[in-house]
This record gives sequence, structure tokens and C-alpha cells, in this order.
Amino acid sequence: MLTDLLGNNRDWAARIEREQPGFFKRLAAQQTPEYLWIGCSDSRVPANEIVGMLPGELFVHRNIANLVLHTDLNCLSVIHFAVNVLKVKHIIVCGHYGCGGVRAALSNQDYGLIDHWLRHIKDIGYHCRDILDAEPDEQHRVDRLCELNVLQQVENICHTGIAQKAWQRGQSLAIHGWIYSIEDGLIKDLKVDIDCVDSMPAIYSLRQEALQA
Ligand code: CO
Repeated sequence: MLTDLLGNNRDWAARIEREQPGFFKRLAAQQTPEYLWIGCSDSRVPANEIVGMLPGELFVHRNIANLVLHTDLNCLSVIHFAVNVLKVKHIIVCGHYGCGGVRAALSNQDYGLIDHWLRHIKDIGYHCRDILDAEPDEQHRVDRLCELNVLQQVENICHTGIAQKAWQRGQSLAIHGWIYSIEDGLIKDLKVDIDCVDSMPAIYSLRQEALQA
């Protein structure tokens, strides 16, 4: 029932205020999160909760299968604001095993409109088909593609002018790839942490003089 949700909200606000008097007043003045979280919309992967962060500590963008597309003004605007205004120090792309979006992308069904969104995951699957074909079954293929998808989204962020310009002006910014397991609540660090332009493929790289223009 909706009234339960509103009741829960009152209890929650009262508890936080009891534990940390003045919490909301302080938060209302400004937000200074150090992290941007890009995750899946899946209801089982609540960003703040699984990393123990309070309101004000995590700037969040979620969509189906945690994609960062260069034509998605919504996601790009979030990244732009997080990097240029909030000056977050870390962007975390956190996928999750068993992602329904990734599973759908590996299937041959017609899901309608969302197929256009999932097509980006299909492209990764096709590009990495040798890796996926080496997996023993469907479940493992889905989970491997969930990981590969995170890595691709980390790359996509690095390729944006937003990240490159931040690095060029010496701003501290690191992009990380993680994956969450719904089955045990634990996050696995995929050990991809990028904090400079060093390994950028040339075609994505903005030239220094172009950045200054
Ligand atoms: Co998902």
C-alpha cells in the first residue's frame, strides 16, 4: 500500500534525525558526494544501501543494464554535472550478475522498443563472441557478458570529452568497474581503475589543443 511507503518514510526520517540531529538541515545546504554511481535499475541493486552510503554521499544514475551511451543525453548530463560541478573523484559502473537486460540481449526474442537499448549489449556480445562461446552454459554466458558490459561502459566514460577534459586540467577522477551478486549481496571489483588518458585508443582521444579551444 502507498500509505505504508509514506509511513515508512516518516519513520526513516525520524530515525536518521534521532541518530544524527540536524542531518537534513545540513544536507539541504549542499551536497558534496565524492562518488557517481552508474548502476542497473534492477530493484534488487539499491545503490546507497549496498555500499552503506547515506543521503548526500552518492550521486546516482541508473538505467536498464547500466549503459553509458554517447547518444544518451540523460546519462551524459549526469556525468557532466557530477564531474564538472560536483567534482566527484570516482565514477563507479556497477553491473550485476543475472541482469535481465543482459539476458534479454543474448536471446533472440522480440521485446519491442527496448530492443534498441539492448542492442548495445548485443553488440558487445557479438564483439566478444569467442569469450562467450567458451562458457559452458547460458547462465555463465549471461554472467560473463554482465562483466564485459561493465568493462565496455567504463571505456565509454573514458572516451567522453567530459572525462578527458577533467584529466587534462589535472582534476582527480578515476573510473571503476564493479559487479554485484544478487545471490550473496557482495560486490566483486573487476580491477579496472582508470585515472588518466594513457591507454586511450587514438580515435577517441581529444587533442590537447582541441581541448583548449
Ligand atoms: Co540489471
